[in-house]
Amino acid sequence: MKKERIAVAYSGGLDTSVIVKWLQEKYNADVITVTGNLGQKKELIGVAEKAYKSGAKKVFIQDLTKTFVEDYIFPALKAGALYEFTYPMACAIGRPLLAKTLVEVAKREKCTAVAHGCTGKGNDQVRFEVAVMALAPEMKIIAPVRGWEFKSREDEIAYCESRGIPVAASKASPYSIDENIWGTAIECGVLEDPMVAPPEDAYQRTVSPENAPNTPTYVTIEFKQGIPVGLDGKKMTGVALIEKLNEIAGANGIGRMDMVENRLVGIKSREVYEAPAGVTLHYAHRELERMCLDKEVMHYKAKIADDYANLIYNGLWFSPLKKAFDGFIEQTQKNVTGIVKVKMYKGNLDVVGRQSPYSLYDLKLATYTAEDNFDHTAAEGFIKIYGLPLKTYNRVNKDKFATVKKVIKKK
Ligand code: ARG
Repeated sequence: MKKERIAVAYSGGLDTSVIVKWLQEKYNADVITVTGNLGQKKELIGVAEKAYKSGAKKVFIQDLTKTFVEDYIFPALKAGALYEFTYPMACAIGRPLLAKTLVEVAKREKCTAVAHGCTGKGNDQVRFEVAVMALAPEMKIIAPVRGWEFKSREDEIAYCESRGIPVAASKASPYSIDENIWGTAIECGVLEDPMVAPPEDAYQRTVSPENAPNTPTYVTIEFKQGIPVGLDGKKMTGVALIEKLNEIAGANGIGRMDMVENRLVGIKSREVYEAPAGVTLHYAHRELERMCLDKEVMHYKAKIADDYANLIYNGLWFSPLKKAFDGFIEQTQKNVTGIVKVKMYKGNLDVVGRQSPYSLYDLKLATYTAEDNFDHTAAEGFIKIYGLPLKTYNRVNKDKFATVKKVIKKK
């Protein structure tokens, strides 16, 4: 019988290290590990060595940061996609790219299956598998963690020790942390009680607002067609810009979120997120849109934003609906060019200025001074017709509306 070849999405953590050996033993397979760098700082040190020690036949480490930023993060930013109006979706946007990379290696290496280390109650398993189904419909998918014999971290560590797999000596974090350039997700431990405020040590890349500087920081962000291209007058690549903003906003206590969230698998979970650059860029982008987008486009786009966020969150990145949405979003971004100046102060973000060559803000129409250009007399006819349906309706119907009940009599 031909030996199985399995490509594993490998993070270097305990679960995926166990998976490498476990697949080798259970399936008598050659295991190829695939690790994507999405701009996470901590995780990648020593990953290749660890993969080989866990029994990998071949090891792939791919730097995906630029692709992640330009082809995954920016489309979501342009769409204004925030899950449940809050979460910028660092994890959710990263999974389809990791899955795509996994599939590409699996095909090139003539693998018979791909595997991942997601658990059976999260969203990530869905995102991974649905992406693989879309990109390689014939590919077999194995999710060892959903069905294997290990019941605890200790079981897994014992397995590693019996097989000579190195286990990091460092004390395990009480949290489950997933990190990339767009943000950090922190779960588990005391955070599972929604009445418990996240302890300071849960946060990885932001200072608390209390510990942020006592003077404000001002940053001017430049956008070109909806994409951030510069900071404080200096042109930057997307990756450099996000990294810099993560630093500046994080140091000002910006980008923390604490939310109870609806997972696709039917569970409500308490999630703590940090996305200093993500929160700042979504905010600044929206402020620029207020000035550059036609009213109807802006209002319609807000409805799409929620659908777009749901689509990403629910693992449908590689779908025809995503492409159709992108066509619309792209069209809306043609004039989203200009600068937004924000003020960061102790966890707060305020817009303090905006400017665009495509600004639809017309001072001559807006002003209350003698420069006023607006035709006040036209308003009368407009209101007459605008209110006409209500006038007609209320002649026929005698709907009651709450009115002031107490009349204060003159003494
Ligand atoms: N609930 C978030 C999401 O679905 C975060 C997932 C975090 N994953 C993790 N391994 N900690 O996008």
